[in-house]
Amino acid sequence: MAGCNHNAPVLEAEGLSKSYANVPILDGLSLSVARGERVALMGPSGSGKTSFLNLAGGIDTPDSGSLRFDGRELSEMSSGERAALRRTAVGTVFQFFHLLPTMTASENVEVPLRLLGVARAERRHRVRELLEETGVTHRADALPSEMSGGEMQRVALARALAPAPRLLLADEPTGNLDSVTGERILDLIESVCRRHGTALLMVTHNPDATRICHRVLHMLDGRITDAGEIAPARGGAEERA
Ligand SMILES: Nc1ncnc2c1ncn2[C@@H]1O[C@H](COP(=O)(O)OP(=O)(O)O)[C@@H](O)[C@H]1O
Ligand SMILES: [Mg+2]
Repeated sequence: MAGCNHNAPVLEAEGLSKSYANVPILDGLSLSVARGERVALMGPSGSGKTSFLNLAGGIDTPDSGSLRFDGRELSEMSSGERAALRRTAVGTVFQFFHLLPTMTASENVEVPLRLLGVARAERRHRVRELLEETGVTHRADALPSEMSGGEMQRVALARALAPAPRLLLADEPTGNLDSVTGERILDLIESVCRRHGTALLMVTHNPDATRICHRVLHMLDGRITDAGEIAPARGGAEERA
């Protein structure tokens, strides 16, 4: 994308606020995710995690504050530029997979490539590669209703990765999976992010899931509670050393 600044964090939020029906949901939230960095976001239900991912993914807009992607302010982009960013730079996986129920695994993964206007032969090739990378080649022609939860999340991950995004957003990606399957999905998310240099912002309730992340942030009442990293009661950095 034009104006892409490779030194800037892939995602940088500063003082983001958002209210729904006059109720503040995000309240001056600030965080940044470096290129290729994997960050876990934890916090109680209702603290605004999903609302924040919706802003980060460009599917909703903040009331105030700044949100930069590769150093570019989202509010200064045209709606066309924001749509392009949403399609190419950010991929998302969800707790309940959100696959299109009438489409096969292959067809689901192909959707974002169609939206990008990728030619048919290239689409086929990419879909095959992605299903192989996520370990579901054998389910290529299956419908979501015929797949296990783990298989659906693999397909959803393949779809999210199809445009080769710089940032993967994951909203409780193991929240609907048994623990063994969840562990495998986490390993897969880590390995694909590593291989492609994709940054990850992952909401999770599972403390073990943070093992695939470089950094863990906690959220409460619409803001990050540990952005300063030094607990105020413990004094300065020298005391901690
Ligand atoms: N589009 C919306 N319209 C109205 N209220 C919303 C909307 N999105 C989220 N909320 C409210 O915002 C609060 C935080 O929700 P959410 O971001 O889903 O939190 P979390 O993901 O941390 O559980 C909830 O009380 C929810 O009802
Ligand atoms: Mg949520």
